[in-house]
Amino acid sequence: HRILVLNGPNLSRLGKREPAIYGHTTLEEINVGIKKAFPDIAFDFFQTEDEGELLEKLFQVEDEGGCIGVLLNAGALTHYSIALRDAISAVGAAVVEVHLSNIYAREEFRSKSVISAVCAGVVSGFGEESYHLGVRALVSLREQGGR
Ligand code: DQA
Repeated sequence: HRILVLNGPNLSRLGKREPAIYGHTTLEEINVGIKKAFPDIAFDFFQTEDEGELLEKLFQVEDEGGCIGVLLNAGALTHYSIALRDAISAVGAAVVEVHLSNIYAREEFRSKSVISAVCAGVVSGFGEESYHLGVRALVSLREQGGR
């Protein structure tokens, strides 16, 4: 079992960034929490502010193989990046879309995700726990033998 935890733009700022919405936990702390919660799973962690780098990471996962899935918080790219959507469709790995906040309970523009339809599913609104639920979803998808 290997899972890539992929975070996009602005998520490096967690802890300092709009704590009323995103909490006080840093991305590093979230990543440590994921490892602790799932000691039997090997994780790769990657964050970038750059759309192209996010796409390249997905292609790398595809080319290297051996990854059961990707947990993706694409940040604002979620709402407008057709390039990201196309990259997710192009790779074989299961991708679970996660968000700390409930994107349906915020500004109107956040309630539209252009990537959801090509992801295996979405977890949104549970803070740090969204990532843990996302890992569980990837593991259970794997066990069901589905995409
Ligand atoms: C987010 C929600 C997005 O709308 C926003 O642009 C983010 C974070 C979340 O985790 O709640 O950067 O993906």
